Amino acid sequence: MIARLREFEFTERDFSRVSRLVGEHAGISLRPHKEALVYGRLARRLRVLGLKSMKEYLDLLGDENSQEFTHFVNALTTNVTSFFREDHHFQYLANVLLPELTKGKQKAKLRFWSAGCSKGMEPYSLAIVLYEYMEKFGPLDVKILATDLDSSVVKTAEQGIYPEESLKEMSEGRKKRWFRQGQGEQLGSVRVSPLLQRLITFRKLNLMDPWPMRSQFDVIMCRNVVIYFSRDTQTKLFHRFSDIINPGGLLVLGHSETLGACRGRFRSVGKTMHRKKPGGVK
Ligand SMILES: C[S@@+](CC[C@H](N)C(=O)[O-])C[C@H]1O[C@@H](n2cnc3c(N)ncnc32)[C@H](O)[C@@H]1O
Repeated sequence: MIARLREFEFTERDFSRVSRLVGEHAGISLRPHKEALVYGRLARRLRVLGLKSMKEYLDLLGDENSQEFTHFVNALTTNVTSFFREDHHFQYLANVLLPELTKGKQKAKLRFWSAGCSKGMEPYSLAIVLYEYMEKFGPLDVKILATDLDSSVVKTAEQGIYPEESLKEMSEGRKKRWFRQGQGEQLGSVRVSPLLQRLITFRKLNLMDPWPMRSQFDVIMCRNVVIYFSRDTQTKLFHRFSDIINPGGLLVLGHSETLGACRGRFRSVGKTMHRKKPGGVK
């Protein structure tokens, strides 16, 4: 009934095809109640391409390397994020983890990964915490890798330009120190300090694919990403994370995410924060 009132035909079979494609490619598991959301997001692509039905769209999608497949995936990801989201994670880093990992070391080497970084607010928040720490306690050898499946958000993250409103929860001190007000056409926008950008490497990366990184990480933040994956996909991913986190290193999840079957490799150190057990099983 509802389907007939819609601008484009979108059958149950079309929805199943979309679910299968995005599930196989990105691990994202689309439940039936997401049907209206999926329709709304893909309808925009149909308008751009001047198509008449979802079937027509799905038939022309092509394989995973086609340009339209990138638009398809980008349309189906959920990118909600903000600066210092779930602030207790950043407080733990500043007050507990960094003092511990840098204790007695000259210019300690620390590697961070923001996996599923969306528009970049998460890695920039991390970079702010790291700079503030370095300004107080001396230099560190730090690098942040920030990755996301969605190429459009990675581009936004790299540019580091945001609506001024996105800083509304931030302290005045941090706003002044780390952001520049836009002028002229950029009025109402802010730009992150190049100092923060220098700490971060942004890349497009599908967590379901093999990972090109060779190094181990001290901290992996993968927050509010696996919530869209099946339990089985989550467990496989957590095992892969556990393999590349240094013993004692930290895995941070989002507020509604749990380690499930992988919890034996970690010890909980607070809400959705897990330290890899020393000598943790491979
Ligand atoms: C809700 S955002 C969370 C952003 C940030 N971590 C936070 O908590 O504010 C989830 C992000 O995960 C990304 N994502 C979903 N599936 C992914 C996958 N298979 N590989 C990499 N990133 C993925 C989405 O593109 C989206 O930007």
